[in-house]
Amino acid sequence: MSDIEQLKAVLAPIAAGRAAARLEGGRASIVLDVTGLGAATREELEADVRAAAERLPSISEVRVLQTSERRQRRLIAVASGKGGVGKSTVAANLAIALAKRGRKVGLVDADIYGPSQPKLLGVEGVRPEAREKKLIPVETPYGVPLLSMGGLVAEGQAIAWRGSMAGQALGQMIEGDWGEAEVLILDLPPGTGDLQLTMVQKYKPAGAVIVSTPQDLALIDAARAIDLFGKVGVPVVGLIENMAGYACPHCGEVSDPFGRGGAEAAAARLGLPFLGRVPLELAIRTASDAGEPPAAGNGPAAETFAALAAGLDDWLAANGG
Ligand SMILES: Nc1ncnc2c1ncn2[C@@H]1O[C@H](COP(=O)(O)OP(=O)(O)OP(=O)(O)O)[C@@H](O)[C@H]1O
Ligand SMILES: [Mg+2]
Repeated sequence: MSDIEQLKAVLAPIAAGRAAARLEGGRASIVLDVTGLGAATREELEADVRAAAERLPSISEVRVLQTSERRQRRLIAVASGKGGVGKSTVAANLAIALAKRGRKVGLVDADIYGPSQPKLLGVEGVRPEAREKKLIPVETPYGVPLLSMGGLVAEGQAIAWRGSMAGQALGQMIEGDWGEAEVLILDLPPGTGDLQLTMVQKYKPAGAVIVSTPQDLALIDAARAIDLFGKVGVPVVGLIENMAGYACPHCGEVSDPFGRGGAEAAAARLGLPFLGRVPLELAIRTASDAGEPPAAGNGPAAETFAALAAGLDDWLAANGG
């Protein structure tokens, strides 16, 4: 066996098709394709490959170069004009339902002032670690890794940050070590102020999902959020009407305390897609409070979120794969 054949033979079982090697006068140059691997795995792979090559008597020097296809990781912002309409609930459950469809999804809680994702995903108090200055997302029991201000700041601690610091923290989360994640769902803070505008301008999401309750007032606010994305050229994936109709926990009958169809009508008026309605359901609130997102279960709410995720999935497929 020639020297280069020998090198290739020792690399094959370690690098599983990811290594391309050349050998010149005892100097080995190895190019490692690390596409889709997390930082830790990449470093381990490089160390293993290097060690194996260095053990060969014919080799005096080893150079390893890591490359990866620049995978487009897309951001989908979940926003509303108004607080308390269920953005965070929708963001968490949409992320989980999308992951159930086989997409690699991560969740970023950009609500600096009222982070709620750690609680929704049952990982309250778990702080993300950092490796090589990159934040490592917290694994959750639902297949969706999370980075949240809630994990960076102790609970109850006042976050009286200026917007620029909030923006920096968000940048660190978005540029965290997301490994294979191809889609990041971004739970935005409520409102359409400077903070949101800066975030959206700087991190240019691929699309935005607007959450609204059926009331007219909320819809006026939603229109403001839509306007914000329009200004910076971020397409709106669609509107979701939350707390639409009340499902009676006893008889299951659905009534409409906040009216019905307002968001759908608004979407039609604005020429935007309507992704669907989520009923106001006691079970959604109690499960969310318990850190057991309904999308992860198999009740009616799981089906509702699955349908919303299907709409988002179609949009992603139609807009870049
Ligand atoms: N469809 C629903 N049925 C029942 N309760 C819901 C529903 N959607 C949200 N909730 C509840 O309403 C409350 C507010 O929801 P959530 O925190 O998701 O709203 P938000 O828009 O993210 O709020 P904020 O503006 O403060 O970030 C939570 O207690 C949540 O459990
Ligand atoms: Mg929220």
